Amino acid sequence: MVDVILGLQWGDEGKGKIVDYFAPQYDVVARFQGGPNAGHTLYVGGKKTVLHQIPSGIFHEDKVNLIGNGVVLDPVTLKRECDTVKSFGVDVKKNLFIAERTNLILPTHRALDKAAELAKGNEKIGSTLKGIGPAYMDKTGRNALRVGDLLDKNFTTQYIKLRLKHQKLLDSLNFSEDITAWEEEFFECIEFLRQLNIVNGEYFINDKISKGNKILAEGAQGSMLDVDFGTFPFVTSSSTISAGVCTGLGIAPQKIKEVIGITKAYCTRVGSGPFPTELNDEMGELLRKIGNEFGATTGRPRRCGWIDLVALRFACMINGVTQLVMTKTDVLDSFAELQACDQYLVNGKPENCVPFQMTRVAIDPVNKKIPGWQTDITSLKSHNELPEKLKSYISYINSALGVPVKYISNGPDREQIIETI
Ligand code: GDP
Ligand code: IMO
Ligand code: MG
Repeated sequence: MVDVILGLQWGDEGKGKIVDYFAPQYDVVARFQGGPNAGHTLYVGGKKTVLHQIPSGIFHEDKVNLIGNGVVLDPVTLKRECDTVKSFGVDVKKNLFIAERTNLILPTHRALDKAAELAKGNEKIGSTLKGIGPAYMDKTGRNALRVGDLLDKNFTTQYIKLRLKHQKLLDSLNFSEDITAWEEEFFECIEFLRQLNIVNGEYFINDKISKGNKILAEGAQGSMLDVDFGTFPFVTSSSTISAGVCTGLGIAPQKIKEVIGITKAYCTRVGSGPFPTELNDEMGELLRKIGNEFGATTGRPRRCGWIDLVALRFACMINGVTQLVMTKTDVLDSFAELQACDQYLVNGKPENCVPFQMTRVAIDPVNKKIPGWQTDITSLKSHNELPEKLKSYISYINSALGVPVKYISNGPDREQIIETI
């Protein structure tokens, strides 16, 4: 049986914290897509740490953590992350496994990402520059090198062949930075990667499922960054939605049970692209300040706005979300009044659906005003302690989305979570 935790907005919904909280209820935690563009923040023994590619169950030593075939893996970032995890006393050789079909991010992918963004000028996607787009292009273009290839004696020859192809592309984009140092580091780090547990991911996970183990699939990014259903072209290059779990791990759809969607009590986006409820005023500034909304991977300030129920309904639909976790609820503690976008005006016309191409139309949010609870909720532990106005906000979200908010998160720590039903 497989449950999924994934983001319903534009990423950074607090997936890392929630996966870490739920991990004790599972046997395996598995990442199924994305790569080091992700930054999942966890507090372990009160100490903050950020994971990029390693699943957020890693700090529970009795849990198996799998990097699935749908991920694009940068060996350099992985080595660094493994060192960090080790500093917390966790030995990745014991509980981290990597699928051999996982595609590798090469130094030239990072260079190509940078070169492509530079060439876009004002149309920049705002990529994290981790090489994600070019690595997935090599996967669908059938050129990629995969983790299993590292064990092949011809790996270096294959690498050189692909590198030459990439060099032509880099030249055509007038990219002239010297990447020798990146390549040296890459070759050091693949030595390290070769020593880790490289497995046949699809047999590995299906064997666990047939033995009755419980699997938690951990999404990266968010549904509005999905390559098919997000705000294209301002998206990432992977399937961030629940369907991605099947291709990203090699499991059948009927094995998936709960789809747990994570949403902030408001909304953020980092990078370029449409964001209908964005607040370019003091209110947006306040959300950023109180919510400490700065990217976990790049440190960039996140754009902030009110919760977008039109986009959330869309995300619940395409993912088949069965329950919601609302995070960062405490960030709204001091607000006298909140707003929630329940409908769009698209080129002036009321619209309840997410339009095909958000960049080509004018979208104005129709906002409902909601009274704030103006109470510090960070130390509360149970539903009956919640202020009535927060209970009303939760009921409103429940009915607007048609999916129950089962938990609210009221602070960044592992323990700051309240079951609402
Ligand atoms: P992820 O990418 O979805 O894992 O989220 P990030 O780690 O990028 O960003 C979420 C940020 O919010 C991190 O700094 C978390 O420590 C923090 N966070 C998570 N849940 C809560 C919460 O309920 N309240 C507050 N104040 N912070 C939270
Ligand atoms: P987590 O897992 C927020 C955004 C980038 C950019 C776009 C494309 O921490 O929620 P890419 O590097 O994938 O080519 O960038 O996607 N982006 C994220 N935004 N959280 C993330 O991951 C993101 N990963 C990518 O900012 O707009
Ligand atoms: Mg993040």
